[in-house]
Amino acid sequence: MTPLSAPFPATRFRRLRRSPALRDLVRENELSPADFIWPVFVRNGDGVEEPIASMPGVMRRSVDKVVEAAEEAWNLGIPAICLFPYTDPSLKTECCSEAWNPENLSNRATRAIKDAVPDITVMTDVALDPYNINGHDGFVEDGEIVNDRTVEALIKQALSQADAGADIIGPSDMMDGRIGALRAALESAGHKNVALLSYAAKYASAFYGPFRDAVGASGALKGDKKTYQMDPANTDEAMRMIARDLTDGADMVMVKPGMPYLDVCRRAKDMFGAPTFAYQVSGEYAMLAGAGERGWVDGEKVMLESLMAFKRAGCDGILTYFAPAAAEILGG
Ligand code: PBG
Repeated sequence: MTPLSAPFPATRFRRLRRSPALRDLVRENELSPADFIWPVFVRNGDGVEEPIASMPGVMRRSVDKVVEAAEEAWNLGIPAICLFPYTDPSLKTECCSEAWNPENLSNRATRAIKDAVPDITVMTDVALDPYNINGHDGFVEDGEIVNDRTVEALIKQALSQADAGADIIGPSDMMDGRIGALRAALESAGHKNVALLSYAAKYASAFYGPFRDAVGASGALKGDKKTYQMDPANTDEAMRMIARDLTDGADMVMVKPGMPYLDVCRRAKDMFGAPTFAYQVSGEYAMLAGAGERGWVDGEKVMLESLMAFKRAGCDGILTYFAPAAAEILGG
């Protein structure tokens, strides 16, 4: 549809921009705390909130502090929190068995949140990188990141998360075939209501740098992730992968990173009409928060403008480290 307008001066677009009330009246998209999933980093200890140098304002929190964060999120009207563990280097191994330890940080945090704030949605991350001595999302054999054996491990990891009470499982690993395998495993284990938010279009991006610091994977990572994460040059491939994941049993799909990939968000929403999310990743956060901190941009305004852009691009929700700050301004 191409909207038609009469020629000037019958049409003066500035008429409807004249006052805040008129602008409110014709605004096409709305941003609210209900659009956010807040990613939080979990570490060991008690009463600990440890700042992350490359992500101003973001902390690694011990489980008790993660519970407080979940309470804060719920009170701000944020419906979901997503957990990423900072795993002690001594627990990183080649076989990654900490990933499905029922007592690992992520599972302990899930249970603690579900006890204290039962209504909030807890999302967990499926991928081996926080637990892998190589820093990769899959097992490494002779320098190759192997697919099928990794999927077997991801199933164990996802089942331990579902057992702990996760509401949404987010496979961020980019192995082929994992959505179908995870859906079948959840179904037969009695976890039929656990939702899968597939990182369907996840690009091999340099914008993940600060996250890898936050989860302690930067030092560990050998090489890059280009054999499993997507080439930033491609969008047809993204559509094919989203189609596959929806067919295989994903309830929602994710585009990641966010701001540089808004074209992919729009195309995905138009093509499939499925619940579509974007991850405004750590490097995007660092750029905006860092420039805001220095006074190079108005931090609050660029935050809200960047988040609105996701709504305009067709996203139903946004994973963003800005969630509490933005929710506070937007009002629950
Ligand atoms: C890895 C994972 C990454 C992020 C989420 N899960 C990094 C990577 O793929 O190396 C990045 C999130 C961010 O940058 O905020 N499974």
